[in-house]
Amino acid sequence: MKEIKKICCVGAGYVGGPTMAVIAQKNPHIQITVVDLNKERIKAWNDEDLSKLPIYEPGLDKVVLEARGRNLFFDTDVDKAIDQADMIFISVNTPTKTYGKGKGMAADLKYIELCARQIARVAKTDKIVVEKSTLPVRTAQAIKRILDQTGNGVEFQILSNPEFLAEGTAVTDLLNPDRVLIGGSQSEKGKEAIEALASIYGSWVPQERILRTNLWSSELSKLTANAFLAQRVSSINAISELCEVSGADVNEVARAIGTDSRIGNKFLKASVGFGGSCFQKDILNLVYIAKSYGLNEVADYWEQVIIMNDHQKRRFAENIVTTLFNTVNGKKIAFLGWAFKKDTNDTRESAAIYVANDLIEEEALIHVYDPKVTELQMLSDLDYLATREEEANKKHLTVHTDAYKALEEAHGIAVLTEWDEFKSYDWKRIYDNMQKPAFVFDGRNVLDHKVLESIGFEVYTIGKGK
Ligand code: UDX
Ligand code: ADP
Repeated sequence: MKEIKKICCVGAGYVGGPTMAVIAQKNPHIQITVVDLNKERIKAWNDEDLSKLPIYEPGLDKVVLEARGRNLFFDTDVDKAIDQADMIFISVNTPTKTYGKGKGMAADLKYIELCARQIARVAKTDKIVVEKSTLPVRTAQAIKRILDQTGNGVEFQILSNPEFLAEGTAVTDLLNPDRVLIGGSQSEKGKEAIEALASIYGSWVPQERILRTNLWSSELSKLTANAFLAQRVSSINAISELCEVSGADVNEVARAIGTDSRIGNKFLKASVGFGGSCFQKDILNLVYIAKSYGLNEVADYWEQVIIMNDHQKRRFAENIVTTLFNTVNGKKIAFLGWAFKKDTNDTRESAAIYVANDLIEEEALIHVYDPKVTELQMLSDLDYLATREEEANKKHLTVHTDAYKALEEAHGIAVLTEWDEFKSYDWKRIYDNMQKPAFVFDGRNVLDHKVLESIGFEVYTIGKGK
């Protein structure tokens, strides 16, 4: 088996950055170069000041500090890193298409294809190419076809090695994965490539947790895992609405369900809706694939998970409007949190964007505080979603770096992200400085509602009937 001495990772984002940092930390004998076209991002990865890393993940700074400059490098010279590497990870982004066929549903493979073409052009020696980004099933075949066209006489082995890390816990997930999935061709050479990658993970992951499969199983497993997890959230969210009208409490139901060992207690937290770069995209991919094979019932089945999620976000916003006496026109609504979950600065598909958008349609004035998300990011999230003029978004969205300022004089507070710090705020002080009646809409069920009510707040909790 060929020994891997140099790795290149194309794409220094939420997946590529943390994954390579951990692989480098655990494999000091392998030189790893992470490359990206985005110069600012690379500059931030190389910043002496570790608080400036482009991605916020608890514990990531320590791992980067240990490996960076030793065997972990961040660079903008993509060609050079590809040329020198024995193994190339593709970790570029695969957003949902915003145009043309499959718009709003299929993954946009533009970046993947560009990346494959670049590898094909540059490579002069045999390479193992690992797809790391979330991809629709059978992308590996497309990558292989592009690579095989080069005519340089170079041989490529394609592996699928999907990422299961969750943002906010990326480093611990990487250090202690439930399993690592490696899919590859079942030929002799394919199996050799699988083992080469398995030995890299073997530096810290027990062999029995490294699952070897064929390419298509590996690609489909990633979509399936995310679809199942998202389905659980949509299932509990569907029950949350029923609880609200019937007088049940979704937290009590979730507890009763979660203690059934056949079901288990994870992913049963009712919320304003799931977000993140994976769930929606992966389900849409699944739906798109099913449809393209003519499996309409399969497609409809999974699509319902998304429909439920959209409904949950919309009804949260509607509830704010109804509760505030059917109008939020000109009213200050304060948002605590913008990220799609705590401990990350990622905002992709965050429920906050949708809720803000719906409230802006009603002419509300949104004031946001999030400990890690920048104003620029929030505005670009809104601009991306809404068709209204950019100036209109600026007019309706004010971003604060001080939470108390964001909450001052507000007619209502909406909690959109479950950041821990929100729990320890001085809620009495917040109450005193708000418009009355003072409403809190806890979209994450994280605050102590009994305490808030004793102060005088009127609290709306997801899934709690009156
Ligand atoms: C997910 C998968 O967990 C991970 O394995 C995959 O590699 C990428 O997609 P991530 O998107 O980072 O990870 O976050 P995750 O923790 O799965 O949460 C997704 C969304 O569901 C978040 O918005 C979260 O707040 C929401 N959620 C999760 C709930 O609303 N309730 C829950 O009980 C759990
Ligand atoms: P993910 O969550 O999948 O990691 P990100 O958007 O955070 O997604 O990261 C993907 C990164 O890939 C971006 O920083 C983007 O600039 C980079 N990228 C996309 N295409 C290329 C390419 N052809 N060469 C180098 N970097 C690329």
